[in-house]
Amino acid sequence: MTVCEYSPGLEGIPATKSSISYVDGKNGILEYRGIAIEELAEKSTFLETAYLLIWGKLPTQAELTEFETTIRYHRRIKYRIRDMMKCFPETGHPMDALQTSAAALGLFYSRRALDNPVYIREAVVRLLAKIPTMVAAFKQMRKGNDPVQPNDELDYSANFLYMLTERVPDPIEARIFDICLTLHAEHTINASTFSAMVTASTLTDPYAVIASAVGTLAGPLHGGANEEVLTMLDEIGSKENVRPYIEKLIANKEKIMGFGHRVYKVKDPRAIILQRLAEQLFATTGDDDDYYQLAVEVERVVEEKLGSKGIYPNVDFYSGLVYQKLGIPRDLFTPIFAIARVAGWLAHWKEQLGVNRIFRPTQIYTGEHNLGYIPIEERICDTERPGDS
Ligand code: SDX
Repeated sequence: MTVCEYSPGLEGIPATKSSISYVDGKNGILEYRGIAIEELAEKSTFLETAYLLIWGKLPTQAELTEFETTIRYHRRIKYRIRDMMKCFPETGHPMDALQTSAAALGLFYSRRALDNPVYIREAVVRLLAKIPTMVAAFKQMRKGNDPVQPNDELDYSANFLYMLTERVPDPIEARIFDICLTLHAEHTINASTFSAMVTASTLTDPYAVIASAVGTLAGPLHGGANEEVLTMLDEIGSKENVRPYIEKLIANKEKIMGFGHRVYKVKDPRAIILQRLAEQLFATTGDDDDYYQLAVEVERVVEEKLGSKGIYPNVDFYSGLVYQKLGIPRDLFTPIFAIARVAGWLAHWKEQLGVNRIFRPTQIYTGEHNLGYIPIEERICDTERPGDS
């Protein structure tokens, strides 16, 4: 067995072979199953894209209709899960509520028939169908309201927006939201997908796999950045303050939320599309709140300062502006990222089951050897214990 050179964060180390998606970070290219993200964003829908990612081909009309109908049928969640969510603190973050309730699905459907294609398909449908309902349910219940039941007249994205507000959304806004889901559906071996794969490699149930991935996505260095971008724009407050604010972050070696990427060293192709959607929404609503203009100025200053280091907007920089314009609460931005990425996580789960080998990397040991056991009365109490540094 050859031991690879150690690479912090496994940078550049292949963890699997996959045909699900492809990223060219130098040229800003993203393809799902060989199809450019720009084409899918323009011509496809999230559910059709999820089908493509998970089953490896674009569905026929009959296959897509059957997939959409089955998902529509499975949108509701058990009352026991709703009752459990009623016990969550209203101040809890929706990502923690989602991780808990996603894992709870395993209490109802945990039979691990991973060699049974029917079980695989049922798990795919249940997770794609129920995750949006759980996100919307917590949003309602944390305010003491009853959850809004799914509206079976509405398609996937319109129904989610309906469950958030109990109002049928504007079709253009529902379409824009659906494009956002397509853009967030998959992105090769990012941290949360890798987390899903490691969990899946032990052959546990798919609900535990998704719960692992949700927990990983929540961090501000990953999916949690979209919410942090709006906080940053609030703190900046005005175009005049952009430069001093950014210069201070750089001087303090702090990360600028929504910028940089382990793979992209140019502007994330998803950010380009999300910026267009944000511009469209800000133009149509005509509001004078200048978040969009502020964001454009932040991008301009960061490019001037850090463009030479390959630090450009990533998927999280403009997505929050779109969601905010759609009236979505900020702390739901990352759960929405999770709703979309369930498709990618499931695609990698299914692909891996075909060639599974449990993930068990090695390490470079930096500790000591052959130390004797010290009786407690002889131990010295000091601030610096060996191995603490
Ligand atoms: C997502 O992997 C994926 O595909 C993820 C994702 C997906 O679809 O799944 O694309 C989604 O997670 C997007 C990223 C969202 N996170 C953020 O916006 C948080 C801010 N970004 C950074 O934390 C950072 O860019 C990461 C985490 C995204 C990438 O980190 P890396 O690859 O480990 O890079 P690094 O931290 O080693 O930085 C390399 C250099 C450093 O400078 P030097 O010490 O070499 O001088 O670039 C600098 C960093 O300081 N740098 C930044 C920066 N990102 C990198 N400096 C300021 N602001 C930033 N955002």
